[in-house]
Amino acid sequence: MHDFCFTIPYGLVLVGGGVFGYIKKGSTASLAGGLGIGLVLLLAGYRIGAPGPLIPHMHHIFFTDIFTNMEDMLLIYSSLSLLVVAVAFKLIVHLQTRTPKHLPPSPPSLPILGHLHLAKKPLHRTFHSLSEKYGQIFSLRFGSRLVVIVSSPYAVDECFTKNDVVLANRPDLLATKHLDYNHTTMVASPYGDHWRNLRRISSLEIFSTNRVNMFLGIRRDEVKRLLLKLSRNSRKDFTKVELKSMFSELTFNIIMRMVAGKRYYGHGEHVKDEEEARQFREIMREAFANSGASNPQEFVPMLQWIDHGGLEKRLTGLAKRMDAFLQGLIDEKKGNEEGNTMIHHLLSLQKSQPEYYSDQIIKGLILVMLLGGTDTSAISLEWAMSNLLNHPDVLKKARAELDNQIGEANLMDEPDVPKLPYLQSIIFETLRLYPAAPLLVPHMSSDDCTIGGYAVPRNTMLLVNAWAIHRDPKVWDDATSFKPERFECGKANSQKLMPFGLGRRACPGEGFAQRTLGFTLGSLIHCFEWERVGEEEVDMTEGNGMTMPKAVALEAMCKMRPIMYNHLSESVDYV
Ligand code: HEM
Repeated sequence: MHDFCFTIPYGLVLVGGGVFGYIKKGSTASLAGGLGIGLVLLLAGYRIGAPGPLIPHMHHIFFTDIFTNMEDMLLIYSSLSLLVVAVAFKLIVHLQTRTPKHLPPSPPSLPILGHLHLAKKPLHRTFHSLSEKYGQIFSLRFGSRLVVIVSSPYAVDECFTKNDVVLANRPDLLATKHLDYNHTTMVASPYGDHWRNLRRISSLEIFSTNRVNMFLGIRRDEVKRLLLKLSRNSRKDFTKVELKSMFSELTFNIIMRMVAGKRYYGHGEHVKDEEEARQFREIMREAFANSGASNPQEFVPMLQWIDHGGLEKRLTGLAKRMDAFLQGLIDEKKGNEEGNTMIHHLLSLQKSQPEYYSDQIIKGLILVMLLGGTDTSAISLEWAMSNLLNHPDVLKKARAELDNQIGEANLMDEPDVPKLPYLQSIIFETLRLYPAAPLLVPHMSSDDCTIGGYAVPRNTMLLVNAWAIHRDPKVWDDATSFKPERFECGKANSQKLMPFGLGRRACPGEGFAQRTLGFTLGSLIHCFEWERVGEEEVDMTEGNGMTMPKAVALEAMCKMRPIMYNHLSESVDYV
């Protein structure tokens, strides 16, 4: 009896230990472990008090005939009931804490897939419809990953002020593991010292006014080439031109010339090494097609194990080719130190600070500039021109501003952009209705936090539906109409307009992009008359892609204005 009485508290202590372990570590293993050990010791303890082998005694526990004393029986029953109550109570607590009460509302989900079956493209439109039913802060499960989608300026404000640091991480995706040097590039890196260092390097060496001005010649030259190409058949009459590919060539050539002094686009015109250019274009095409977070395999571990769809294999192969290409560009410059490209500048810093300016960091910087700065700008130009073609009155007003401010004899230049507020309003209005990154870039919580009173656990992916906020009639008057005038009194409240994101992870290329967009669009308006191809409006349907492209490539009619003769007499730089 004594042994038994001693064992019950001993067993209960261990049960308690298990429960405590569970609460502390949050692991079911500690709970089960503690309970298991507790029970075994309880029974073994009973065994210690009685002779004979353990097993028969265990058996006896369930049969009352072993108890000679009613007191013993009562004691063991009450301890077992206590145990059962403790286990049941802890299980309830466990279930409740595993599914936090205040998660943002969510539609019914499927096992394993969660809500992946609902993720129809274009995602920003699907999320907008869901937010109308579940609220401006709602949640989904993409396989095993919790995703919170916010579509109100107030929630966004909370995300990027109070929660800015907690939400400054990026999700670890297969695409960023393979293509972003194991999540170490600026766009994919978790928030911390490494990321801060990359932002510091880029703000000094890439995006500083000094550096951006240093490469102005390249932008002038590329814009001039575009204008010359457009003027080829349009001196006397209107001619049809396909603008999408021209904008893409422009932005790729601008970035690549800044980075490595190379033109890779231009269909044989002034492209020095056709084979190298072809390789680069193919790598970029594949990188765009495989980046982003829209592949179900990213979120369902089971699909990852079997490499469903061969995503991981594809990414590994692409990453190898991309790395070899970028390394080739760096090695080439190491052999020839004379030059004024971004690679040259970074390599000269590598000499004094090799740990900060390693080859991998340089390759990562080139990569994020190419993937972050080309398509976004090209797409925005295409949407801007489409809007102008559908709103001839706006086009006319923009041309009048250019003629007044610059004159009909002089050509527009990039430093003129600040003198052209209406042109800038057209760009803001385009980015409002057609943000190139409609869901920004996914963020991830590094700790538990709350948004709008809802619980957002650690490791939740956060998507901001900027597209929906930009079209919310509660936020904007006549929200879906294209009216650049709404920005005439200056830049809109950043809580409402966020095409470049907000907070710490906001786009570092914003200033650079605004200059390129303003200069290109202004030059196109200044140097050409523009009309639609037919009577019908330009189709503004969105297609699918990492960014938000136009479904139908933009074609337009253009006719050279006399001012273009100033350009025709000039030559372009050969690179
Ligand atoms: C119209 C043009 C552009 C748009 C609409 C745009 C938009 C964005 C957005 C929405 C983000 C994510 C912000 C967030 O996480 O909340 C971003 C990040 C970024 N953008 Fe841009 N961008 C543009 C041009 C550029 C250019 C020209 C460059 C570089 C040459 C660039 C480089 C980057 C980089 C490196 C990041 C990652 C920043 C980080 O994670 O710390 N972007 N951009």
